[in-house]
Amino acid sequence: MYQKPNQRLCNQTCIVTGASSGIGKAVALAMGKDGANVVVNYITQPEVAEAVAQEITDMKLGGRGIAIKADVSKEDQVEKMFETTVKEFGTVDILIANAGLQRDAAFHEMTLAQWQMVIDVNLTGQFLCARAAIREFLRRGMRTDVSKALGKIIHMSSVHEIIPWAGHANYAASKGAIVMLMQSLAQEYGPSKIRVNSIAPGAIQTPINKDAWESKSALDELNKLIPYKRIGQPSDIGSAAVWLATDESDYISGTTLFVDGAMTCYPGFTTNG
Ligand code: BGC
Repeated sequence: MYQKPNQRLCNQTCIVTGASSGIGKAVALAMGKDGANVVVNYITQPEVAEAVAQEITDMKLGGRGIAIKADVSKEDQVEKMFETTVKEFGTVDILIANAGLQRDAAFHEMTLAQWQMVIDVNLTGQFLCARAAIREFLRRGMRTDVSKALGKIIHMSSVHEIIPWAGHANYAASKGAIVMLMQSLAQEYGPSKIRVNSIAPGAIQTPINKDAWESKSALDELNKLIPYKRIGQPSDIGSAAVWLATDESDYISGTTLFVDGAMTCYPGFTTNG
């Protein structure tokens, strides 16, 4: 059923937040295919999270999956998730801080609750998970038999860390902040051999942006923003995340990998300017 795996992540444990749908789910499955133990974190859709975890175990490619419910914006729940993971698998080697959401509104109509929710999940959630991961990497110490790095953190950002987005100021602000969080951590923990990077997906076909791909006319409009002329698939992010977590990318830290079909290359200038 599965293509011959690389199993580059055998004996490593990965926490993927927000893994019961979209990008997180694809990343969790991709990590599993490369042999990692995977914690499939979720807050809604427990049955999907359980199914993803089971699918990873059933791959029999070296790793096991378990589903853990935790709201990444709540300190006690994040701490508990890491505790359970360490109890179950011994340690954590890779964090994919993926959980994120949108609460779109024209800025003059945006409520504090809409602002706060996006910042809480997209930014504070990444702070809490990265802090817990770094504490665990430092506690555990180097395992040169599995990786050249003490640990790897991948923040899920967005093309909107650099593309301003009218009607989505809370979301764009949360993603813009991820750059400085990620780079500050890469700078601070590089000497400890922790690699910290971001992935900035473009338009990936998931429930979060259904309106942009559901109808043919919407998809045609969307494709005008994508020089490579196709919407991205969750697996496009899965394979990038796995590579960033393996030693093949050992010299990469403090950078954002854009996986966006060239969306950030100003497509409006193709025939203009
Ligand atoms: C957003 C999507 C959007 C994409 C490209 C993502 O970060 O979550 O809704 O389609 O950026 O604009």
